[in-house]
Amino acid sequence: MSDSKKSKKLWGGRFNESVDAFVEAFTASVTFDSRMYQQDIAGSKAHAQMLAKVGVLTGKECDAILQGLSEIELEIEQGRFDWSIPLEDVHMNIEARLTEKIGITGKKLHTGRSRNDQVATDVRLYLRDAIDQIMAELHRLQTGLLDLAESHTTTIMPGFTHLQVAQPVSFAHHLLAWFEMLKRDAERLLDCCKRVNVLPLGAAALAGTTYSIDRPYVAEQLGFDAIAENSLDAVSDRDFAMEFCFIAALCLTHLSRQAEELVIWSSAQFGFIQLPDRFCTGSSIMPQKKNPDVPELVRGKSGRANGNLIALLTLMKSQPLAYNKDNQEDKEPLFDSIETLQGCLRAFADMIPNIKVNKDAMYNAAKQGFSTATDLADYLVKKGIAFRDAHEVVGNAVAWCERAGCDLSEMPLEELQKFSSVIDNDVFDVLSLEGSIAARDHIGGTAPSQVKDAIKRARNSIKK
Ligand code: ARG
Repeated sequence: MSDSKKSKKLWGGRFNESVDAFVEAFTASVTFDSRMYQQDIAGSKAHAQMLAKVGVLTGKECDAILQGLSEIELEIEQGRFDWSIPLEDVHMNIEARLTEKIGITGKKLHTGRSRNDQVATDVRLYLRDAIDQIMAELHRLQTGLLDLAESHTTTIMPGFTHLQVAQPVSFAHHLLAWFEMLKRDAERLLDCCKRVNVLPLGAAALAGTTYSIDRPYVAEQLGFDAIAENSLDAVSDRDFAMEFCFIAALCLTHLSRQAEELVIWSSAQFGFIQLPDRFCTGSSIMPQKKNPDVPELVRGKSGRANGNLIALLTLMKSQPLAYNKDNQEDKEPLFDSIETLQGCLRAFADMIPNIKVNKDAMYNAAKQGFSTATDLADYLVKKGIAFRDAHEVVGNAVAWCERAGCDLSEMPLEELQKFSSVIDNDVFDVLSLEGSIAARDHIGGTAPSQVKDAIKRARNSIKK
C-alpha cells in the first residue's frame, strides 16, 4: 500500500486545499475493500458494455476499457498493482489506473454511475460468491456428519438433559441433531441469497441517472436475479449484509454448541471420543496434555460473529436516506463474519469425519445414571398403571438401586416385583439400553431403523 501517488483527487474540482494527510488515511477504505477487485472489475465491465449498447460509449472505447480492466485484474493478481491510500478505495484505485493505461477513455467509464451504486453492487457480488463457498463447506460438513452417523446407528451413548444422563440415544441420532441445525442454516443462506442477488447499479448517486441506461442488460451480465426497485433504497440498503451476519452468527452458535460437546466428550472424564492429533496442540509446560484447540477456538469465534452482527445493526440504525459515509463501515464486520464462518466450517468439515469414537465409554456412561428409568415407567403404564404412579414406583426402585449400587436392569425380578406386582420377566427387554433405543420407533426417534431412514432423508436434502 503506498501513499506516494500525488493526491490529485478524482473528485477534486471544487476543492481549494488538499485533504489533510490524516483525514486521507482515516477516510480511506482501500486497505480492506481492495479484496473486492474482481467484483469491481466485473461490475465495471458490465457497466461499460451497457454504455456501449445504449450508445454512450463507442464500441472502440468499450473495447479499450474492457481490455484495460482485464490487464488491471492481472496486475492485481500478480501483485504488480500499486494500491494507493490517497486514491481512497478499490473503485478509484482501479479507475485511476485505467485512465493511466488507456487515457481519456478511462475517464468515461464512470458515466451514469456513482461509487454509491458501484460499492453496493460490489459488496453484493462479493457476498454472493462468499455464500457459494460457504454453502460448499457447509455441505461438506453435513456429509461428514452423515458418513459418521451411518456407522453409529447402534452405538449407544447417554442422551443428556441438564448435562445429567437422561435417556440412551444412538451416537448417530446425536449427530443428526447437529445436522438439523446446519440444515436450517443452509436454508437460511439460500433464502438470504434472494435478497443479496439484486442489482443496485443504475441508481447512480441516489436518484438515478439521466442516461437511457439498460439495467436489465447489466443484471443479466452480472447474473443478478432482480433489479433494485428504488434508487434511494438501492444505494443505502445493507439489509442483506445484516441478514448474512445474523445467519453467520447463528451458524457459529450452532458450531459453538457442537464444539462444546466435542470438548467435553474428549476430556478424560468422558472419554467418548478422541480428536485427531493434528487438530490439537500440546502444552508448553505439561507434557501429558492434548488440548482440543480447534473446537475451543470455534466455540470462541462465535463471539466475534455476534459482535459483527451488532456492529452492523448499530451502524444502520437511524441512518437517513440515502448513502452516508457510515456505510463504508459495513465491510470489515461483513468480511470478518464471512472469513470466520468459512474457517470454522472448514475446520469442522476436516475434523469431524476423523474423530475416533470410543463406543465402550459411551455405552458404559449410558449404563450409569438409570437412563432407562423412563422406559420402566412406560412399561408400567402399558400394564395399566397411571403415569404419575408409575413415576413414583420407578423413583422408589431407583432409590433401591442406588443403595444396592446397581442398575435397574441388574435388579432381581423379585425385588422389582416388590415395587409393583404388574412387573414380569419381559421387563428386562425394556430395561436394556438396546431395548430402550429400539422402542423409540417413530419419525424423529432414536430407534436404529428410524435413524437409518433419517440419514437417507438427510442425504436427499443436501443433494443439489
Ligand atoms: N469507499 C466507499 C464505501 O465503501 C465507496 C462509496 C463512496 N461514496 C461516496 N459518496 N463517498 O462506501
